[in-house]
Amino acid sequence: MINIALDGPAGSGKSTVAKKVAKELDILYLDTGAMYRACALKCLLSGVDVKDTDGVKKIMDGIDVKVEYKDGSQVTLLDGKDVSFDIRKPEISMMASTVSAHRFVREKMAEIQRNIASSMDCILDGREIGSYVLPNANFKYYITADSKVRAERRYKELLERGEKVDFDKLHEEIIQRDYNDSHREFAPLKRVPDAKFIDTSDLTADEVVEIIVNDVRRGKTNV
Ligand code: DC
Repeated sequence: MINIALDGPAGSGKSTVAKKVAKELDILYLDTGAMYRACALKCLLSGVDVKDTDGVKKIMDGIDVKVEYKDGSQVTLLDGKDVSFDIRKPEISMMASTVSAHRFVREKMAEIQRNIASSMDCILDGREIGSYVLPNANFKYYITADSKVRAERRYKELLERGEKVDFDKLHEEIIQRDYNDSHREFAPLKRVPDAKFIDTSDLTADEVVEIIVNDVRRGKTNV
């Protein structure tokens, strides 16, 4: 079984890299961030503040988050509805970061992720895949880049989708999300010692893909 854990902060290039690795190795790509985004969207639609523990708990009791695959791409379903587009809205990013800090939210999502990972070869991207969700994954990576480079990547991505955003605000938000994600009490963003560290600031996505694919084909990671 191939389980690849790809962790790192917002904008480090995880999803681009994970998609390409999955295609190259013909395995599944599971975007775990999309699941937290779906939880945040449900709070928004229900008028519940993502910081309100009791309110979020009620939401999580009845939530139905599923992922399906259409033509090799992940479709994220919230209560049976395809929300893949809506969860990418910039205002959902910070809400996802906040909602994901609740322990019960993480436990519920991690269980779904572990079930998927135990049944098929896959690459998961997130914040704590190597440290908490799949500590026994056979390939682990931690990728990052300078915060400005990461903000530039997100900026381009959003522009391409037709979203107008202020670059400085986006940069600030990335720094704030880094802080939230790495300082939460339970399962924070963390680089584990057995994960290979890759700084992607000066690397193309294809160069990062090559490193991972070569490791998997050789059957080992040199950390
Ligand atoms: O990767 P992303 O930007 O789509 O993730 C949105 C938020 O979800 C991120 O700021 C933190 C949270 N998240 C998490 O806590 N654990 C994961 N495995 C993935 C995302």
